[in-house]
Amino acid sequence: MKIGFIGFGEVSFTIASILLKNKSKNKANVELYSCSENRSEKTKQLMKSIGIKDLKTIENLFKVVDIIISANSPVSALKIAKTYDKNIKKIFIDFNNISPETTNKISNIIGNNFIKGSIIGNIKSKEHIIYLSGEKSEKIEILKDYGLNIKIVGKSPEIASKIKILRSIYTKGVSALLVETLNIAKSMNLEETTLNTIAIGECNNFKTKAISRKENSLKNAKRKYEEMCEILEYLNGFKDNSYEDIDYTMIKSIAKKFKYLNKNYEN
Ligand SMILES: NC(=O)c1ccc[n+]([C@@H]2O[C@H](COP(=O)([O-])OP(=O)(O)OC[C@H]3O[C@@H](n4cnc5c(N)ncnc54)[C@H](OP(=O)(O)O)[C@@H]3O)[C@@H](O)[C@H]2O)c1
Repeated sequence: MKIGFIGFGEVSFTIASILLKNKSKNKANVELYSCSENRSEKTKQLMKSIGIKDLKTIENLFKVVDIIISANSPVSALKIAKTYDKNIKKIFIDFNNISPETTNKISNIIGNNFIKGSIIGNIKSKEHIIYLSGEKSEKIEILKDYGLNIKIVGKSPEIASKIKILRSIYTKGVSALLVETLNIAKSMNLEETTLNTIAIGECNNFKTKAISRKENSLKNAKRKYEEMCEILEYLNGFKDNSYEDIDYTMIKSIAKKFKYLNKNYEN
């Protein structure tokens, strides 16, 4: 099984590491590839560090591999999918954080070889799950044997990205509220007590998770703001149909909060 990564950052590196770690336990072999043309030194170093084969260009990668993994950035996802030639009939998995609308555009380009992958949780965390949807998702279920925590959620590619969006609204909302609450508590000199009080009735390691959630929200406020804007843009598309009664007050506030955090907590 030849797998090729377009983009070799945190996601591709982590997935490649898991596949290589579990390679010896399986009968079928996996060979991993990527392409370094136009990529930064950081990416090239990551590729080298894991010994992945460099095919230089995307065109070469399309020719050589059986499965293509696109994990680069939400803004380049569609442009990269447009370089796919339908005649090669190879599975194309997109792992970028893209809206269901962009997912559908990519699906129209790739056809039934397209699988949408949504990484739920941080890829580096042991708790992450990879949701997959697309007609041929079952074909790559074999990667479970190579240590990937895969869950197939449907035949239509947009399902995986819709679930991701819904989870994203919830988790970013909780983060925004937590940051705001702790900030008020800090001004009252009650941050620690507030954390201990909220922890009552929450999960065991709530306090550690809450502190990490707060730090992550401040560090990545810009990206989170952009993601909330994308979600709002997607939901606004619902205005003309049966979803028109949905109220987005909270979602708009979450976006506003991350805009504020980005402006006021630069790092
Ligand atoms: N990290 C996570 O836990 C996580 C979770 C869910 C979803 N995602 C999504 O997965 C995708 C990748 O995330 P990441 O964390 O791996 O990002 P990352 O660490 O920033 O790595 C991105 C990689 O893509 C390359 N790249 C950027 N633009 C490209 C283009 N036009 N063509 C080819 N390669 C390109 C980058 O190369 P250069 O170094 O040359 O720029 C780099 O190798 C993103 O869309 C992100 O939203 C990430």
